[in-house]
Amino acid sequence: MVKISIVGTGYVGLVTGACFAEVGHQVICVDNDLKKVETLQAGGIPIYEPGLEEMVKRNVANGRLRFTGKIADGVNNSEVIFIAVPTPPKPNGDVDMSFVERVAREIAGAMMEYKIVVDKSTVPVKTGEKVGATIKRYNKHKVDFDVISNPEFLREGCAVQDLMQPDRVVIGVGGPRPVAKMKEVYTPFNAPIIVTDINSAELIKHACNSFLALKISYTNALSVICEASGANISDVVHGMGLDKRIGRAFLNAGLGYGGSCFPKDLSAFVHIAEALGYEFRLLKEVQQINADQIQLFLKKVHDTLWIVKDKTIGVLGLAFKPNTDDMRLAPSLEVIRPLQKEGAKIRAYDPKAMEKAREVLPGVEFCDDAYAVATGADALIICTEWDEFRQLDLEKLRSVMNQPIVLDGRNLYDPQKMTELGFVYKSIGR
Ligand code: UGA
Repeated sequence: MVKISIVGTGYVGLVTGACFAEVGHQVICVDNDLKKVETLQAGGIPIYEPGLEEMVKRNVANGRLRFTGKIADGVNNSEVIFIAVPTPPKPNGDVDMSFVERVAREIAGAMMEYKIVVDKSTVPVKTGEKVGATIKRYNKHKVDFDVISNPEFLREGCAVQDLMQPDRVVIGVGGPRPVAKMKEVYTPFNAPIIVTDINSAELIKHACNSFLALKISYTNALSVICEASGANISDVVHGMGLDKRIGRAFLNAGLGYGGSCFPKDLSAFVHIAEALGYEFRLLKEVQQINADQIQLFLKKVHDTLWIVKDKTIGVLGLAFKPNTDDMRLAPSLEVIRPLQKEGAKIRAYDPKAMEKAREVLPGVEFCDDAYAVATGADALIICTEWDEFRQLDLEKLRSVMNQPIVLDGRNLYDPQKMTELGFVYKSIGR
């Protein structure tokens, strides 16, 4: 058992804290939002993530997980302190590191004996050096410490599973002293543990997210060629994905990547490279292809409907991906807003994200289910591939629509079947 504290109870901090407690560690989650601390301690979960609520409740009840607003409480009751605060983008795409810096100072002021300080937030390469220098400067009681980089690879929607069964754990260290303790933290997860220098560990994170985004944009670029040539992107990626060197994951064509990670991390990585004297043109193109994907889809809407003004358009799926209620940089926003601007009447449904969507999509009429969205609609647009949309009674759906037009941004249905059912059906690259 390792005594752990985690500063920041956002997505990464909360799921990490719960999973550490689940495998038997003693965990304190620290947050300066006292209302959030109170809610969490009482078993309330501010985000939707499958399996998380039960896990938090279970571990609060068995005493292995607790929440506090006081950083000194966390620091002085743990051996290893994780920093898991946001690193949001600045308007120029650079990374705002002020939360990490502030937490490093606060930890430094509270430490009374040797501590291992671990950065879990996604940060630019060389942050470990800066965090180390900051802690040294504000080290009130002049105690020993080590700084470590331990990037997180969890995906929203399957975060608990990703954390409990990781493909690998990356630990970037400046020397051998903290390695044994970090291995003790991660041994219960039965995953390969890679020990590197700090800069390499930090780079691995940006390198992974950028590579995954590259796979998506590559597929989306291929989908354009498929449409132009009459080929089918689903068959093409099936044929590609069986090559073990390529793999099938992240080869789904669609409206492109969104969310709080890929768009931000690609911009950050382009900036980091620039600061190091390298123009990362490849990643700039990945970003451009991603942006183009929305424009191509909107063109498809116009080509099909001709005039959008005064049409009732139903939207199925709002979250940036299935199994989450996260609306941050969701492609649905970029599809809906221009159509609203042109005078379309938008109706929408999402299984989990409607509450958050209401805050960012004024003027949209939110419905109770997919059939209510379709009723009287001149077209249906699919923005998120929720499983429940795969189970819809398509005949019923068609019968309630004003016009049987489906524009599918996530390739949910079989084009031939949709045509047989009487739909005008357009998807991506097929
Ligand atoms: C991503 C990474 O997958 C995680 O490993 C990483 O830890 C996380 O960012 C992070 O940096 O914190 P996440 O953004 O939660 O995770 O979600 P993904 O499943 O990676 O999906 C990202 C976007 O790509 C979504 O908009 C999704 O719809 C899109 N996508 C994904 C595609 O368009 N096609 C695909 O084939 C796969």
